[in-house]
Amino acid sequence: MAVSLVTGCAGFIGSTIVEALLLRGEHVRGLDNFETGNRENMAGFLEQIEFMECDLRNAAAAAAACKGIDFIYHTAALPSVPRSVMDPRTSHDANIEGTFNLLEGARAASVRRIVYSASSSAYGDQPGFPRRENMVPMPISPYAVQKLLGEVYLQSYWQVYGLETVSLRYFNIFGPRQDPSSPYSGVMARFILQMLRGEQPTIYGDGEQGRDFTYVDNVVAANIAAMHAPADKVAGRVFNIACGERHTLNETYRVLAQLLNFNQEPAYGPPRAGDVRDSHADISAAREAFDYHPAVGFEEGLRRTIAWYKQQYAAPAVK
Ligand code: UD1
Repeated sequence: MAVSLVTGCAGFIGSTIVEALLLRGEHVRGLDNFETGNRENMAGFLEQIEFMECDLRNAAAAAAACKGIDFIYHTAALPSVPRSVMDPRTSHDANIEGTFNLLEGARAASVRRIVYSASSSAYGDQPGFPRRENMVPMPISPYAVQKLLGEVYLQSYWQVYGLETVSLRYFNIFGPRQDPSSPYSGVMARFILQMLRGEQPTIYGDGEQGRDFTYVDNVVAANIAAMHAPADKVAGRVFNIACGERHTLNETYRVLAQLLNFNQEPAYGPPRAGDVRDSHADISAAREAFDYHPAVGFEEGLRRTIAWYKQQYAAPAVK
């Protein structure tokens, strides 16, 4: 039976991919170094996978993790634009060295395909919406550069070594298990937890920046579809994975506040260094190549996400 490796299997997106693969009856190996991943995210499936505690910055460990593997879902990374602005070297080592070591391991192990978690931050602040994959990347933050370099490396390994690679540019993913507790956490997770706790969220900038917020199950479905699509449709290519809608932060705040019965106004702070102003995807390339459709829309995704955070954090005692 084919074996899939999920890097970052204790993370928000990685753990959700593992669950979906297990539901499909697949054999899964997972790796994580717990730098941002959380053991609790694996509680529901730890017994059902082959787990390796492994840091991809270690080339030998990355090579060992690839042995006997057919498919790799590469979600492991040190995320966050502001983290990369504060400490670019640590992000660089994790995101670039880690991806390079994995590619080398995959090449040596004759892995059939790698699907990589790339980032919409690659587009930067250039004009022209919605974003299409043929636009010239203009990354701003170190994180955006790192994620883009990963894509370029994957394309090279396809062209030079024939290793099938696919890059999925995610646009602001949210959903259950996204860590809300760090200053580097995604805005949706932060705002939901703050509202549940009665704390006043802060919007950085004027709140009119737009994001193409995308529920995590859409991303998981895209990963699996991209993994099994014919090579002539996907190998060596880059695809936007989003909802194809733009929501401002002010609007998102209002929707969340309404769903959570939260009556306070937001605080406004200075804009964050490295932030892009707007983000909005054209998702037609993924639709044409592997029939991608965002099955869960913005509001339905928010409802599901809020239900999960309420269960985890709201009662009886706030953690
Ligand atoms: C970026 C990338 C995304 C990537 C993610 C990884 C873009 C368009 N998106 O997301 O592809 O996966 O990094 O971390 O570059 N904000 C607040 N208050 C808060 C927290 C955030 O106002 O408490 C604001 C931010 O300033 C930003 C927006 O919310 O304008 C979204 O921030 P965040 O959720 O961190 O994601 P991005 O940096 O947009």
